Amino acid sequence: MAQMHKWWQTGVVYQIYPRSFMDSNGDGVGDLAGITQRLGYLEWLGIDAVWLSPVYPSPMADFGYDIANYTDIDPLFGTLNDFDALLHEAHRRNIKLIVDFVPNHTSDEHDWFVESRSSRESSKRDWYIWRDPAADGGPPNNWTSFFGGSAWQFDEGSGQYYLHMFDVKQPDLNWRNPEVRAAMYDVLRFWLDRGVDGFRVDVIWMMIKDAQFRDNPNRPGWKPGDPPYARQEGRYTENQPEVHDVIKEMRSLVDRYDERVFIGEIYLPVPQLMHYYGHSLDEVHLPFNFQFIELATWSASTIRACVDMYEKALPEGAWPNWVLGNHDRSRIASRIGKEQARIAHMLLLTLRGTPTWYYGDELGMQDAVVPPEMMHDPQGKDNPQHSRDPQRSPMQWNSQPGAGFTQPGVTSWLPLSQDYQHVNVQVEQDDEHSYLTLVKKLLSLRQSIPALTTGSYTSLDGVPDDCFVYIREQEGKRYLVALNCSGQEQQLHLDHARQGNVVLSTFLDRNDQVELTNFVLRANEGCLIEIDD
Ligand code: GLC
Repeated sequence: MAQMHKWWQTGVVYQIYPRSFMDSNGDGVGDLAGITQRLGYLEWLGIDAVWLSPVYPSPMADFGYDIANYTDIDPLFGTLNDFDALLHEAHRRNIKLIVDFVPNHTSDEHDWFVESRSSRESSKRDWYIWRDPAADGGPPNNWTSFFGGSAWQFDEGSGQYYLHMFDVKQPDLNWRNPEVRAAMYDVLRFWLDRGVDGFRVDVIWMMIKDAQFRDNPNRPGWKPGDPPYARQEGRYTENQPEVHDVIKEMRSLVDRYDERVFIGEIYLPVPQLMHYYGHSLDEVHLPFNFQFIELATWSASTIRACVDMYEKALPEGAWPNWVLGNHDRSRIASRIGKEQARIAHMLLLTLRGTPTWYYGDELGMQDAVVPPEMMHDPQGKDNPQHSRDPQRSPMQWNSQPGAGFTQPGVTSWLPLSQDYQHVNVQVEQDDEHSYLTLVKKLLSLRQSIPALTTGSYTSLDGVPDDCFVYIREQEGKRYLVALNCSGQEQQLHLDHARQGNVVLSTFLDRNDQVELTNFVLRANEGCLIEIDD
């Protein structure tokens, strides 16, 4: 009998960066009511779940990842009523809603931190990580922030330093303190009781720091101008053994509710990443797999190597997942070019495991050009080259001024990408060869062909170096995915089967029968082929 799968195993996840999706009130910033207005598009597209980056009250030092109150909505985005309306409307359309949970740090404007910093005797002093200055009066150790500079900030009033692994306005919580855990578990319950379908947990692998505060090793070769987060190895600030106990506690709480998903943001090499499923699969359901985001070179051999290695490393019963883009990294179409980005989408939507992609990537949106004086992102403060603003530009809905994101005449919080007049939902919906049409077709095939969601995966040898070819199979039904990762035509001679039907080409222009023993893929073409019995 076929095994029953959960919605988050067979579904696909679409990330919305709320500031940039849809502005319903003409202030140039996206909001919850805007997202609700656009749910019809997401339903039409065929996604299963939305993951919403933070919408909680925030001074916006890190655009919502600095939270001043975990159980309310920032007025910029709307109200709790708007949130409930979004949730209700999403559920009515069979779309799940996953929210962001940011447990590693709060805003320095959160009441907890205001109280904590008020004096060394404060009842909340130990909710954050406070240390005395080093003997020379400088920071307690060498830890550096992901956004650049020391991770320690001196507080004049109380004469101690507090830790902030990100912006100075994002003090790290002390997860060794049981009161912090209890307060944050109340936050999880608050949103679960409201009906959210799960959490994406921000920097979950960083929540516990070394109890002895030992110095981190610096990465040899790092020089000013390189990404600030790459400066040190996080030996004592990341991936500490005790973090697993916290994650288990959170997971057991989430498991008290039906069918919720618990996703962890974890940038670690695959072997370490696997530990976050938990010994008895009792930690996160999906430790985000960022291999495609981090690939140094986009080539058939590197892609195959990472998929095969990941498949092999998965613990028994663990469910795979793949992420193509997010708000922290350059967009896929900018990273690998528009032609190969189509291949990347076919790959994402035909591999085994839950796919996640970033709003607008289904249009082939590229990073916007953001002039330095319009940049906001704290990660770009030392070097605009590392700003994440370009990948956060507004969603491109139509060719009108404002791109349908905001009203004509309103300046959006980040500039629109220059290509919005021809890369947008309206234009692409009417074009049978567009990027959007490709993604929509891939989604509907994925939904209708069980082999693509729950079937087995086998990669094939004996194919040209520039091609990545694999078979997805379930109950005797076999589908071949053949991806040409190069700009040259490729000749394939497969001996696994003789004939097949092209169900979909990334060019959307063929549905022919092919001899698999002698088969041509055009430059930058990917094909999904149903293999004849
Ligand atoms: C995560 C978020 C990123 C944020 C950081 C600090 O990596 O994805 O946007 O800046 O955490 O919260």
